[in-house]
Amino acid sequence: MLVIPIIDDNLLANSDRVTLLQLTDPHLFDQPSKTLLGVNTWDSFNAVIDAALSHTFDAVVLSGDVSQDYSSQSYRACADALARLNKPTMVLPGNHDELVKLREHLVGSNVFHSEVVNIGGWGLHMLDSTTGESPGGRLGSSRTRRMLDNIQSSTQDWQMLFLHHNPVKTGSAWLDNHWLADGQEFLAELEKQPKVRGVAWGHVHQEMDLAHQHIRLMASPACCIQFLPNSQTFALDTLQPGFRLLHLYRDGSIETQVYRLPGQAFIADPDAQGY
Ligand SMILES: [Fe+2]
Repeated sequence: MLVIPIIDDNLLANSDRVTLLQLTDPHLFDQPSKTLLGVNTWDSFNAVIDAALSHTFDAVVLSGDVSQDYSSQSYRACADALARLNKPTMVLPGNHDELVKLREHLVGSNVFHSEVVNIGGWGLHMLDSTTGESPGGRLGSSRTRRMLDNIQSSTQDWQMLFLHHNPVKTGSAWLDNHWLADGQEFLAELEKQPKVRGVAWGHVHQEMDLAHQHIRLMASPACCIQFLPNSQTFALDTLQPGFRLLHLYRDGSIETQVYRLPGQAFIADPDAQGY
């Protein structure tokens, strides 16, 4: 198991919990002028970061789809934006990412691509759910086995898993074509792991928060365009980009809030038929 301690427990803002900022799906381009369905993604990502800076958190998780065009520049732009947060950041890939470029241009002195990170009594697992073939995800047997080994051998009291793809369906048929294909098997394994308290993902560009037995399941809004919940065909929401804060307590409980940008600065093209 690859475990990288990135933060000393004595440095936590509150000794009874670790607070994580979850950012997801910035979909950055190679140039700051480019837009995704009418939304300038460099601007929306930086606006989300500006908003996050008014909160207190100990570390950041970026749960994939960093790039929209697989360009080196998009990853470097992401690194520049994240540097403004000045917090250790764990990144994992989404279906829009190219892992080699992500590692070369985004991972650095304060941005980590590591399998497991231990903070404040919690083992944080950064799963790669990408397949390299389709927009959908699949963990597969070997990555699932490795995840279970890491959970069972963890020295931490509690475990939280992050991945890009949704292991439960959203209710939008077009989007659920690209969910985590072995999501049911994934959750069936986690049901047997009492230390696992939470799973969080991106990909769906909308907020989700539900309970599955002892496990909290959560999706964070994207840092750019938002998908309309419960739409059977592709549709965009007028909700603004946002982020999630996760408070992981020493007793294994989780508190969380989603924040969205005020105003209406980032409205996507209402006539868009897909992306
Ligand atoms: Fe995305």
